[in-house]
Amino acid sequence: MPDFVKVAKEEDIPAGRCRAVEVHGLKIAIFNVGGILYAVEDSCSHLGAPLSTGFLGKDSISCELHGATFDLRTGKALNAPAKGPVETFKVRVAEGDVEVEV
Ligand code: FES
Repeated sequence: MPDFVKVAKEEDIPAGRCRAVEVHGLKIAIFNVGGILYAVEDSCSHLGAPLSTGFLGKDSISCELHGATFDLRTGKALNAPAKGPVETFKVRVAEGDVEVEV
């Protein structure tokens, strides 16, 4: 059953930045876009490069290797060479802690 797990302090992920975390064996990238947090699996659906080192756009992340772009809100692939969506996770801030539901 999914539960929220503390992964960072709120100040660890300022606006425009990302933090890569691992929870229960899952690699997750947490992005702060203008104060809104998004969490997606930290693996591009093309060849598995980490998205946490990609290029952050407005509500999107582009893989640094070959440019596949994903919607951070839904995980939907927005262009080739992505082979499909990436998983998204619920993320929240509770008493200054960033928590991800896994
Ligand atoms: S590994 Fe991400 S676009 Fe190729």
